[in-house]
Amino acid sequence: MKVAVIGTGYVGLTTGVCLAFVGHEATCLDVDQSKVEALKAGRIPIFEPFLEDLMADAGTRLRFTSSYEEAIPEAEVVFIAVGTPSQPDGQPDLKYLRSASESLGRHISSEFTVVVNKSTVPIGSGNWVGALIRESQKAAGKAAPFAVASNPEFLREGSAISDSLYPDRIVIGADSNRALELLYTLYRPVIDQTFPAPAFCPRQDGFAAVPLVSTDLASAELIKYAANAFLATKISFINEIGLLAGKVGADIQHIARGIGLDSRIGNRFLSAGLGWGGSCFGKDTAALSATAKEYGLGMGIVEAVRQVNFSMRERVIDRLLDTLKIIKGRNIAVLGLAFKPNTDDLRDAPAIDIIKRLRERGVIVTAHDPIAMDRFRVEYPDLGGILADSAEQAIQESDAVVLATEWSEYRELDWNNLGEKVRHRNLLDTRWALDGESLRRAGWNLIRLP
Ligand code: UDX
Repeated sequence: MKVAVIGTGYVGLTTGVCLAFVGHEATCLDVDQSKVEALKAGRIPIFEPFLEDLMADAGTRLRFTSSYEEAIPEAEVVFIAVGTPSQPDGQPDLKYLRSASESLGRHISSEFTVVVNKSTVPIGSGNWVGALIRESQKAAGKAAPFAVASNPEFLREGSAISDSLYPDRIVIGADSNRALELLYTLYRPVIDQTFPAPAFCPRQDGFAAVPLVSTDLASAELIKYAANAFLATKISFINEIGLLAGKVGADIQHIARGIGLDSRIGNRFLSAGLGWGGSCFGKDTAALSATAKEYGLGMGIVEAVRQVNFSMRERVIDRLLDTLKIIKGRNIAVLGLAFKPNTDDLRDAPAIDIIKRLRERGVIVTAHDPIAMDRFRVEYPDLGGILADSAEQAIQESDAVVLATEWSEYRELDWNNLGEKVRHRNLLDTRWALDGESLRRAGWNLIRLP
């Protein structure tokens, strides 16, 4: 099929590349010309394992452009995957969605087009996009038939390719059967797993057909929010239990395993520690709660989940105060900036929050990340000076080390040797990433969250 994808961020680019890989003709469109030029030259603006390999495999079925005229008229399916950044009141900013919809109205012209919202948008946005397209069609004197669908994305950064090729499920929602049928055809190769698995991202033994959830527009939109809020809840839940475990002297790792083995609960997303960051959980829980408010509903659970999560960041400061008593003027090293390993994404990264809080309290912070430092320099130019070239350099003469992101590189450090470089061997492992036994043997005072 002929597909267009508007927006070449994490979601858009992965979607375009994967659809081209499984056999469709995909054109990725971005209004940022320099981004398009880079992509045409095979350079990708984000760090995502295997994306480049898959892009190479997709070959000429994958194209890039900044022209609606080039990408849209022929496309049977158009994905909108533009950014929807959070506004201060928790509602996402829909200006890019608006301008994409308006441009679509001027350019869709095939026999029937499905316009798919891939961005996480407030419930009801599908209808809104439809209305914007119709208005813009009217203004341009056009009337090509189309339907709006929702196809929420569940991919995780760092494993986006495998999540897209081998998903747990595919959700499509529309109030038009024709749109649902086209989307089913589009996803057929993934649903039936008929594409040859790439060598760098093999199919797990026994992985077969992917369940398809085909529903109405509003339900598909809400599925995305409900899924993310539930995952965020699991993390905040285990952190809340962790706080109590700390008081009564119980082991949160054992508790997580003990409850996670109940298949009704499941063992994933029960890692206690610094909590979640990233572009989705914070934004989606805020949006869910804001939407509920519009309908006069309070979302007590979701609100509590947020509150517990963000309190973990302050908890880092509390634990450092407990240990060092005075932190003003001390040297503290923060290892890891990205919100999780295998990405350079710094959106709502807990490490950044911690660095700011520490600096506000007069701490001399040094920081390191294996991948995200370039992005950090661009996004936080006034903090560029705190970066060190290596983890080893970052911890020189430090009074405490905070491990904020569990990069495997940090697990593999020779902590025994590193103990010689610091002023005091205080190590706050906020992610339970390191082996406690051997660290303690090496003389480290190991502190963990919560
Ligand atoms: C998430 C969802 O998983 C994905 O389905 C959705 O579409 C987008 O949001 P992502 O933000 O890429 O994906 O990362 P994810 O791997 O889910 O981790 C989110 C955050 O939770 C990270 O900061 C991670 O460190 C934290 N986390 C995760 C925990 O603190 N504990 C856990 O047990 C799991």
